[in-house]
Amino acid sequence: MSEIIKVAMPKGRIYKKASALFREAGIQIPTDVDESRKLVVPLPEIGMEFILAKPVDVPTYVEYGVADIGIVGKDVLMEESRDVYELLDLGIARCRMSVIALPAWKPGIHQRVATKYPNVASQYFRERGQQVEVIKLNGSIELAPLIGLADRIVDMVETGQTLRENGLVELESMFEITSRLVANRVSYRMKNAEIQAVCDALAKAITAKNV
Ligand code: PRP
Repeated sequence: MSEIIKVAMPKGRIYKKASALFREAGIQIPTDVDESRKLVVPLPEIGMEFILAKPVDVPTYVEYGVADIGIVGKDVLMEESRDVYELLDLGIARCRMSVIALPAWKPGIHQRVATKYPNVASQYFRERGQQVEVIKLNGSIELAPLIGLADRIVDMVETGQTLRENGLVELESMFEITSRLVANRVSYRMKNAEIQAVCDALAKAITAKNV
């Protein structure tokens, strides 16, 4: 009998895209899961159990092995630096991490950067020899330059609508972001056949979408 795979699924907007991809891969998640508020959802019919997690916590659940695999954005993987095995680029939730400011921005002596990604931002400016003070915020990052908390921000840009509506401009694009399939290192060995089957099915669905 094959083993149940515990899957850390991100709640919110990535869930919709990830569950659509699972279905395209022939993994038939029952539709009632989509609207449910349940956090642990046993799905024996597809050999899985879903753990519905806050996206930023997915690598933590996977590193500790309470989830065998997980779906997580490259932004979170880079910020959290958890010891997980990155199996597949799912190509969904595509966006980019950027340095953003008001159009009149000029480098000053004491520079402040607000972000939800303090590790990513600190490393980026350190590598470029720029001394900045990084201020961690938890959301609505675009507010910071508008009300004078920071000169620049490091944040995700998807459609660019938030920037446009707030009169901000992208100074630099730092890196591309997509969602990834990650695995716990021990689970990947112990449940290899099951995890590899999910990975292969997803890879096939991604290829089918791209032809
Ligand atoms: C994200 C991100 C930007 C926005 C980018 O915020 O932080 O604010 O989406 O998308 P756009 O380019 O399509 O406008 P999110 O909605 O996750 O909320 P947050 O402000 O709480 O981070």
